[in-house]
Amino acid sequence: MCKEDADLKNEDLRFASRMACVSGSAIRELLKLTAKPGMISFAGGNPGSFALPNDDIAEIAHDLLKREGKRLLQYGPTEGYQPLVETLVDYLKEEFSAEAGPEEILPITGSAQGIDLICKVYINPGDTVLVESPTFLGNIQCMRIFEANIVPVPMDENGIILEELEMLIQRHHPKMLYTIPTFQNPTGITMSMERRKAIAALASKYRMLVAEDEPYRSLRYSGTPLPSIKSFDEEGWVVLLGSFSKVIAPGLRVGFMAGNASLIRKCTVCKQSSDVHTATLNQAIVDEYMRRGLLKPHVQEACRVYSLQMNAMLEKIDTIKEIVHHTVPKGGLFIFASIGEGLDVAPLFNLSVLRQVAFVPGEPFYPEGGHKNTLRLNFTNADVGTIHRGMSVLRSCFEETCRKPIAQVNTQWDPKG
Ligand SMILES: Cc1ncc(COP(=O)(O)O)c(C=O)c1O
Repeated sequence: MCKEDADLKNEDLRFASRMACVSGSAIRELLKLTAKPGMISFAGGNPGSFALPNDDIAEIAHDLLKREGKRLLQYGPTEGYQPLVETLVDYLKEEFSAEAGPEEILPITGSAQGIDLICKVYINPGDTVLVESPTFLGNIQCMRIFEANIVPVPMDENGIILEELEMLIQRHHPKMLYTIPTFQNPTGITMSMERRKAIAALASKYRMLVAEDEPYRSLRYSGTPLPSIKSFDEEGWVVLLGSFSKVIAPGLRVGFMAGNASLIRKCTVCKQSSDVHTATLNQAIVDEYMRRGLLKPHVQEACRVYSLQMNAMLEKIDTIKEIVHHTVPKGGLFIFASIGEGLDVAPLFNLSVLRQVAFVPGEPFYPEGGHKNTLRLNFTNADVGTIHRGMSVLRSCFEETCRKPIAQVNTQWDPKG
């Protein structure tokens, strides 16, 4: 029998029904494309390579392994490396203005694991989860695997629109709201202080869990930091997801969740059968990185460079104001843009990839689909010179493929995009 005959076909495999609505992540597929030599990528959500502190981490790993290598290389508790949990108690206060005790904190394998655990312990098939529209597609995918009924909530330039949110809560009785309040992925939008407070109040009023995903909040280039939604939460309805991926290194896969102790306990039980625990050495590296006072200056330097990169991209994109409409974020990794209503970015995408520049089309970020005229641009993973070159190419692609002018031109994000 030749190998092709022997290979299992897709239709031979009896996949679980929960996989019926799940396709491969559009970004993962795209990232394979952007890995091609010579490609300028504005596609992924990667930190700049200058911002990956490999030398400091090498030194820390060496010191840790010499000091307590036997312990760090052994199985550890699912509850996490306790010195890191203690460090996180202070980090939550300082960075998120949020109070949580050690039993309310769980180190996890990237914040992506947080949404997976929350869905596992809290979401039954058919339960409604409200999400911003657009939102992070990795987590839409996760909710789809758990067969959630995903209902989009509209946003404006200050985040979720409260009147719409309350109307949808009353109509759908959601179990959970998933939100990325600061420098949102993909829009870069930051939710206002008033709305953060109001969402914490709505969570208590309607007994709705809020999963507050905050991987970007430390990457602020202008304006003053806002308290987390968690900081306004008096009853424990808000579970905060934090990550060290964007501020130290995504390859370490260290994040954390902080919420009600019973919820954290249930997530810990699920984590036990999922990956036993987050790599102890990596947890210890993150802990030591913070204990040595390296995180703050590192983030400061990353922000200095990222803001130059963002401004370089904004300057270039502003030269084609008549055809592209875009957000002007105060931090984070992304600019979100739209071309004329009714247009599709597919021809733009095909042409720009042909000319070695990649971005992500916006449609997969919308749980309801559509919005084919939108796109997401990342500015952290290319230096200023590369951004200038890539944006010149992209500008000519815009001019060649998106002739229909948009009706109204301003620098605010258009929720109808
Ligand atoms: C909003 C959001 N949440 C979570 C994640 C996953 O981050 P982590 O590397 O901590 O799993 C990402 C990654 O891009 C993201 O954009």
